[in-house]
Amino acid sequence: MPPFSSHLDLAHLYWKLLLNSGDAVVDATCGNGKDTLFLAQTVLGKKADSGLVVGIDIQKKSIENTHALLKKELTDLQLSRVHLFNHSHIDFPEIALLHPVKLIVYNLGYLPGGDKTLTTKVSSTLESVRKALQIIAPQGAVSITCYPGHAEGAEEKTSLLKMSESLDPQQWDVSHSQWLNRSSSPSLLFIQKKILN
Ligand SMILES: C[S@@+](CC[C@H](N)C(=O)[O-])C[C@H]1O[C@@H](n2cnc3c(N)ncnc32)[C@H](O)[C@@H]1O
Repeated sequence: MPPFSSHLDLAHLYWKLLLNSGDAVVDATCGNGKDTLFLAQTVLGKKADSGLVVGIDIQKKSIENTHALLKKELTDLQLSRVHLFNHSHIDFPEIALLHPVKLIVYNLGYLPGGDKTLTTKVSSTLESVRKALQIIAPQGAVSITCYPGHAEGAEEKTSLLKMSESLDPQQWDVSHSQWLNRSSSPSLLFIQKKILN
């Protein structure tokens, strides 16, 4: 078995390597809550006496789906450390600004099984990622899964790659992983902040 077969497996592998119990994380596109749940199970221990998960989605349905999934899978204590916000990720909620955030994740595109016109958009995604880079803790990361199989997604990926290629290598490690033998395949852009001396 290969260690991963989709970009999401790879993203989860990176997140597991980066995160510890007690970390603060943000899911900037909750969708149906699968990534939010994965993050919560990674940073909120059974006692849930530390750690923070912030979830954001512009669609009420996504927030409802995420809440329903988390309520089913997490303990009440763990759930008390998850904060969900129904607005655009163009602004990060204050609670995310009060903690050193270790990881901010974006899974771009539209809600699986939902309205395909309600997709993430180039300008708001870029603005949000720029803000994410400002708040991420040293040795923390911003993880972005891109979907170039639709027009807005292709433009999003091109703009994000252009922006990240220009990041100062003294301050940032940037990698981009893509399946080369699959057409228009999703890809993972991973931007990690170095410790500054
Ligand atoms: C591909 S889905 C995310 C899937 C999710 N990570 C999961 O595990 O189910 C993309 C989500 O981004 C949301 N979205 C689109 N534009 C947004 C914005 N400006 N701010 C926050 N969320 C947005 C959509 O509503 C949709 O739920």
